Amino acid sequence: MIKFWSYGREFKKYKKPIIKNIEKTLKRGNIFFGNEINSFEKEFVKKYKAKYGIAVGSGTDALLISLKTLNLKPGDEIITAANTAIPTISAIINAGGVPKLVDIGEDYLIDVKKLEKEISKKTKAVIPVHLYGQMCKMEEIIKIAKRNKIIVIEDCAQSQGAKYRKKFSGTMGKFGCFSFYPTKILGAYGDGGFILTNDFNAYKQIKRIRFYGIETVEKNKFKNQYYANENGVNSRLDEIQASILRFKLKKADEFIKKRRDLAKLYTKKLSSTNLVLPIENLRCKHVFHLFTVFHEEAKKIKRQLLKEKIQTRSIYPYPIHEMKAYSQMIKNKKNLRNSEKKSKGIFSLPLYPELKKSEVTSICNKLVKILKKI
Ligand SMILES: Cc1ncc(COP(=O)(O)O)c(C=O)c1O
Repeated sequence: MIKFWSYGREFKKYKKPIIKNIEKTLKRGNIFFGNEINSFEKEFVKKYKAKYGIAVGSGTDALLISLKTLNLKPGDEIITAANTAIPTISAIINAGGVPKLVDIGEDYLIDVKKLEKEISKKTKAVIPVHLYGQMCKMEEIIKIAKRNKIIVIEDCAQSQGAKYRKKFSGTMGKFGCFSFYPTKILGAYGDGGFILTNDFNAYKQIKRIRFYGIETVEKNKFKNQYYANENGVNSRLDEIQASILRFKLKKADEFIKKRRDLAKLYTKKLSSTNLVLPIENLRCKHVFHLFTVFHEEAKKIKRQLLKEKIQTRSIYPYPIHEMKAYSQMIKNKKNLRNSEKKSKGIFSLPLYPELKKSEVTSICNKLVKILKKI
């Protein structure tokens, strides 16, 4: 079986340094807020050329905490893409906002041409979701946001290391929200997330919200360490995860290169088929968190690939407005045709740094045969 994803090969390869880091961390005696977190936060911020950053418990929390800084009032709207992951929407709702959806373009990213007409007086922010590893058209989004005085929060859960012109994902909006869910570009061996920002006051606030609302940047500003300045949450990345992530962060560029090389090979081998292959937009560096293709007969193809012992996944098979949890609160459902169409025909092929070129070739050979019979 060629698995869609597995951490087994990676762990086998890096077992020694990872176990050594965990042991060193446990011996040091801190479970939270120690050397590993402090160093990881500094290293992540430096690598992705932002000013400030904090590690949090998950990508969902990164979005939630960023959104909480907006102090949303009942009825305030947050715009995002209709094909996003569920957590983008749950973060909006849990922060007190109403999600408003915009359709996607052929690149599966928010369609900037349709964005501005969804902005109303109630709109407070837009969350561009850099899905599959490619950044949205950020220049246009930033211009639209400025013109309409709304905040930009980037959902970078799938795009760590991606670039728009020379800017890294997560550094163009007010907040960049990352996930270290194990399948991601930088995967923890558990949950984890990160927020980048260039705004010092916003940094102080997200740091407070992460830790029950207690001020931690300016130590003597408030009464003591058990004094909440605002209502927060508990969202900590632990020292063990940070020690693993510190090791893997040094390898992040290598991981991305491997992903890009494998994506290139997929593209070469599948270019003569009638599959719709991923596009890398002009001025963008795609990091291929996923290699997602489109075909009207996706379900059939996936079934046959599984018979050939090749796992695939559809990410995501339902646009947000088609889900029971959200369909009633989404008002503009008529304009989301492309998201609906794409969700029915997309599927992603296995792609991770430890996947061998020979495996990609074998997947492609089998897929080409299947497509000829469809
Ligand atoms: C686009 C997107 N946003 C947000 C998240 C949430 O991240 P996490 O699973 O770390 O909470 C994910 C990951 O599943 C995601 O893919």
